[in-house]
Amino acid sequence: MNLSIPKPFLEALRGKQPSVPPVWMMRQAGRYLPEYNAVRKQAGSFLEVCYTPELAAEVTLQPICRFAFDAAIIFSDILVIPHSLGLKLDYVEGEGPQLEKFTALEKLVVQGAVERLTPVMKAISMVKQQLPEKTALIGFSGAPWTVACYMLEGGGSKDFSGAREFAYRHPEVFSGLLDILVQVTSDYLIAQVKAGAEVLQLFDSWAGAVPAGKFQEWVIAPTKNIIERVKKACPDIPIIGFPRGAGIYYENFARESGADAVSMDCSIPLGWATRYIQPYAAVQGNLDPALLIAGGDVMRKEIKNIKAMLGGGRFIFNLGHGILPHTPIAHVEAMLEAVRG
Ligand code: CP3
Repeated sequence: MNLSIPKPFLEALRGKQPSVPPVWMMRQAGRYLPEYNAVRKQAGSFLEVCYTPELAAEVTLQPICRFAFDAAIIFSDILVIPHSLGLKLDYVEGEGPQLEKFTALEKLVVQGAVERLTPVMKAISMVKQQLPEKTALIGFSGAPWTVACYMLEGGGSKDFSGAREFAYRHPEVFSGLLDILVQVTSDYLIAQVKAGAEVLQLFDSWAGAVPAGKFQEWVIAPTKNIIERVKKACPDIPIIGFPRGAGIYYENFARESGADAVSMDCSIPLGWATRYIQPYAAVQGNLDPALLIAGGDVMRKEIKNIKAMLGGGRFIFNLGHGILPHTPIAHVEAMLEAVRG
């Protein structure tokens, strides 16, 4: 007899949809929370929080204590992978991440990359010990295309056209870079599961910048490869894919990537999602983060609509993208009330 308390989030991912949809928010630990800002200020920098297991664990738990979300996501960043491969990384206040630009495959220090991320695995173990039994713990990584984007641009960009230009000019190097990222990301995710992660999410935030003819090669193939590797080592681990901005290619992604769930941005019509995504994977999403800032009746109406449209199948309530820093906490509370009824 199994006496452990069921986790609604894991049940939904395994096809046993609870009557109330599980809910969490991308970037749920972050700058909209005063308690997060206090820890970050005291630590001195964002990366210090990421690499100090006690602090990363503390901020991971903050939104759980406040809102009792159904899942916690380990506090870290997708750019710790290029950092662990030897590229310098800095987060400049108000300017976003600055990453040393990729120059050559031989310069990447693949050996020991996952070991250099041991603090993340330590933070996962610490969170696991303190998390309420009904709350699931999500580990994550960036998908190879999106991480390559930042490596090739040396940070953020409006449209990542520089990354695409590089991929067209140097196809062998680009494909070698995706291969390295597939390998290191797979090993990193497996290490997160061994440390206690119960679900994984792959963030492909810039999937929408990929031209149609390259979607298979740059987004689906590397993601599928990672999912296969991770599931070979950890067969029971559910994996959520987030090919943000993929448009009609969400269907190909849901059919072919092997992801158990697909996180949708706000551009995906809900009716379309029930027809082209939900038959193949659980859907996650997709309240507009700006509507969460606006709040009020328009927000409540849209939450009702999302629940009505997607609640008939496997469904996890979330935002279409990360919560924005100036979101009022009262609106997050109102969102939860509307979702949970
Ligand atoms: O979701 C969570 O609560 C877990 C933590 C998390 C962070 N980043 C913390 C963070 C996760 C899952 C990420 C993922 C991430 N990081 C993505 C994919 C998701 C997305 O938003 O598209 C991307 C593209 C990054 C890279 C990144 N990190 C950028 C572009 C920035 C700067 C933009 C910004 O919001 O400031 C970051 C910094 C970052 N990552 C912050 C946090 C809380 C803010 C830094 C700070 O506190 O000063």
